[in-house]
Amino acid sequence: MNLQDARILVVGAGLMGAGIAQVAAQAGHAVTLYDNRAGSAEAAKAKLAATLDGLVAKGRLTPDAASAALARITPVDTLVAADLVIEAIVENLDVKRALFAELEALLPDAAVIATNTSSISVTALARGMKRPGRLVGMHFFNPVPLMKLVEVVSGLGTDPVVAQAVFELAGRWGKTPVHTRSTPGFIVNRIARPYYAEALMLLQDRAARPELIDACLRAAGFRMGPCELMDLIGHDTNFAVTNSVFAANFYDRRFTPSLVQQELVDAGYLGRKSGRGFYRYPEGAPALPT
Ligand code: NAI
Repeated sequence: MNLQDARILVVGAGLMGAGIAQVAAQAGHAVTLYDNRAGSAEAAKAKLAATLDGLVAKGRLTPDAASAALARITPVDTLVAADLVIEAIVENLDVKRALFAELEALLPDAAVIATNTSSISVTALARGMKRPGRLVGMHFFNPVPLMKLVEVVSGLGTDPVVAQAVFELAGRWGKTPVHTRSTPGFIVNRIARPYYAEALMLLQDRAARPELIDACLRAAGFRMGPCELMDLIGHDTNFAVTNSVFAANFYDRRFTPSLVQQELVDAGYLGRKSGRGFYRYPEGAPALPT
């Protein structure tokens, strides 16, 4: 199987879907972009135009390459057929399953569905599908155009030919793909959970403020501290991932979700994407009460 010339449908035009559409279009694919929130796909394309202009201004992309990439992205207001669908919608098992049922009704049998889930079992997501072997995890990292790693995640029923085709595609896009089996949190999110959890515990204990925690971890050599990283990921998504990993580990206390993060989600302080999380954006000033 070769996905080199695949027509790609990206479902979900949020943080991740927009980045995936950009990378796929820059690699030469015709990309359709769908989001069930009216206007979101068009808005994502407009943002991508600005991003590509920024790359041109920095000399990282020629003006021709930027306009060609942009022209390959078509926002659509219904699901459309494609050879490869990359799903980047909300981190929720039932919502993703419902989408896959809709997709299977309109896709050719040979089409591949790749899910960008951060933590939900690919095996569980495939249950009830007509062609479960065609579902594979293709887990990108944020921000998609910059982060090299892609976890290619096989569920129990994933056809190895499908996993290999997605692996090769990610490699052609200049990514560093790795194969892994579908276990809770896969590789990176499993290891990253305690990084977030311990920071949230320090906050709950009022032992340190976000600025201090982040400064310490950056000084220790991490590219980003845990609080600014959670703000980048989005607290709604990060919290959903923690809940999913917690349940998948039979409620092992090590993975307990945090009340501090629950409160941020309840308040709608979702991080960068909502203008406020631990910090205010765009200026990055502290946002939590002292
Ligand atoms: P987001 O909240 O920025 O975007 C999700 C988009 O999906 C929204 O625009 C929403 O309107 C749309 N949507 C929701 N339900 C839909 C449906 N049924 N049909 C069509 N569109 C729908 O979320 P984000 O951060 O882009 O996450 C998307 C997926 O990627 C999640 O599964 C998440 O776990 C995963 N992910 C997120 C990362 C991050 O750092 N934020 C990193 C890696 C994976």
